Amino acid sequence: MCGIVGYVGNKPTQPILLRALKKLEYRGYDSAGIAVLDRGISIHKDTGRVEILERSAPMFSGVIGIGHTRWATHGEPTKVNAHPHVDCTGKLAVVHNGVITNYQQLKEELIREGHKFLSETDTEVIPHLIEKYYAGDLETAVTETLPRLKGSYAIAVIAKTENRMVVAKNGSPLVIGLGTNENIVASDIPPLLEYTNRVIYLDDGEIGIITKDTVKISKSGREITKSISVVDWKIDDVEKGGYDHFMLKEIHEQPNVIRKAIINYDPSLTPMVGGDFWGNKGGKGLLILACGTSYHAGLVAKYAIEELMDIPVLVEFASEVNHRERVIPAANAIVLTQSGETADVLVSMKKLKAANCSILAITNVRGSSASRLANKTLYTQAGPELSVAATKSFIAQLMELYKLILLQPVVNEGLRQQLISDLRLMPNYAQQILDNESHISDCAMYLSQYSNLFYIGRGINYGIALEGALKIKEISYIHAEGFAAGELKHGPFALLQKDTPVVAIVNQDSTYDAMLTNIKEVKSRKSPVIALIREDDHETEKLVDMIIRVPNTHSMSSPIVNTITLQLLAYYAAKYRGCPIDFPRNLAKSVTVE
Ligand code: F6R
Repeated sequence: MCGIVGYVGNKPTQPILLRALKKLEYRGYDSAGIAVLDRGISIHKDTGRVEILERSAPMFSGVIGIGHTRWATHGEPTKVNAHPHVDCTGKLAVVHNGVITNYQQLKEELIREGHKFLSETDTEVIPHLIEKYYAGDLETAVTETLPRLKGSYAIAVIAKTENRMVVAKNGSPLVIGLGTNENIVASDIPPLLEYTNRVIYLDDGEIGIITKDTVKISKSGREITKSISVVDWKIDDVEKGGYDHFMLKEIHEQPNVIRKAIINYDPSLTPMVGGDFWGNKGGKGLLILACGTSYHAGLVAKYAIEELMDIPVLVEFASEVNHRERVIPAANAIVLTQSGETADVLVSMKKLKAANCSILAITNVRGSSASRLANKTLYTQAGPELSVAATKSFIAQLMELYKLILLQPVVNEGLRQQLISDLRLMPNYAQQILDNESHISDCAMYLSQYSNLFYIGRGINYGIALEGALKIKEISYIHAEGFAAGELKHGPFALLQKDTPVVAIVNQDSTYDAMLTNIKEVKSRKSPVIALIREDDHETEKLVDMIIRVPNTHSMSSPIVNTITLQLLAYYAAKYRGCPIDFPRNLAKSVTVE
């Protein structure tokens, strides 16, 4: 969603802002803009990609500036609604990520006082309010403005008469990168890596006053000392590295992601969370909370925890929990979130914390809001994920979940040992799937001609059927639905015809015979079937139209190999359809609004 950047230094700021905005493109946006401070404030905005903005922008000189990628919420993606927004006099410019929920009241108040508004955005009230309170000192004016704002924001503000930038945050992310003779701020780490790996994560309620040589942080009017974090991501991690798309690069990184996850794995390690975390306290049990792809990792974890540890688990969408009046009675919760900034997740976490629930966050982003809200945080080893469609972060989540579970006493020690050796072999299994890429691409070419697809799975691969369908729908725009295979006959069968291919995940476990029955039922309705089957399965291929073989893992760890296969299937289907794979329409990487 919206991304903000800001620079104060000794170099021309315009190219720096534009490069930084390109590094935030992955968040999803539909218009962009910059403001550069020289003798006055020069502003340029455009609809569409940053490339368009770059081509259409005049060359502004100046070493202080702010920039923005906007994902429209209040008002269409037009030039007028694009950020930066200014006050009436043009002496202030503001970029904002988040939503100001009381903007309508503020706007009416400001209009009554004579302020003139140009856009339909909620953001525009911010420069007008700052102007109202401005008496020669930007820091004071911003400090007075913030208590008037309800909702979420990360803002960066510049003023015509000041050689500094003021930033503030409440609910939306903001990181300050500390350079030499320059400082740069952004919604996320990637734009900063070119300049520094030393960062300050701003917390809610804090204000940063930034010059080229100094960064002062204050809270409630008093200066505070913040710790400096060192980021271990590299510039190469945020480049395409010869691949056509970030998504393909990220799919190919998965053997390494898995390797990294198991490199230091020692089954005799002290668990991150003790036995009490899994226990049922006063009738309250374990909850897993997530959205989208991360929710599907939660479904796999539920199955694994229930089977291996015999502990009941509730998996809920954070986007549902946050709006329920009843707080789910959970003693402990695992929150899965790649970005650590998903608004639905953060609101639900706050609600659970208020009800004394202890939360373990599993996230990919150090210093993210989820990590700061959680009681404990486990970091996934995926590195930066820039394609909107989650791939390697999902596999990294599964790896952390498996490791977490396998450090606990489990019901069946033999199975535990088998899973541990499976996970150790998993980088090779993942590579085997990547080596089969051209066959998977052929299957994708076949699927890419259809408008509707079903994905079916059972048991631990039910969540993977949902994930396979989500992946292909979001990047190829083919309508795809995932189902628990046994549910087809309870309704979805009505839609099956010869032009509705079904992708079936066939597992060698207690669900095998039932899945073959489901495939026969589907074939009787003339729908083509593509089946993901193990190397040692020689029955299923007799029933279906196409097969994709996956390595012989235990069914409990098969979600990893099945998912990687389905990611490639989605990627190539989208490629054959000519879709903008890394930036699917209407979607954002980090969903920072509820
Ligand atoms: C799909 C996808 C989304 C995210 C969801 C949650 O490919 O990426 O469904 O999984 O928006 O995001 P996080 O995990 O950052 O909370």
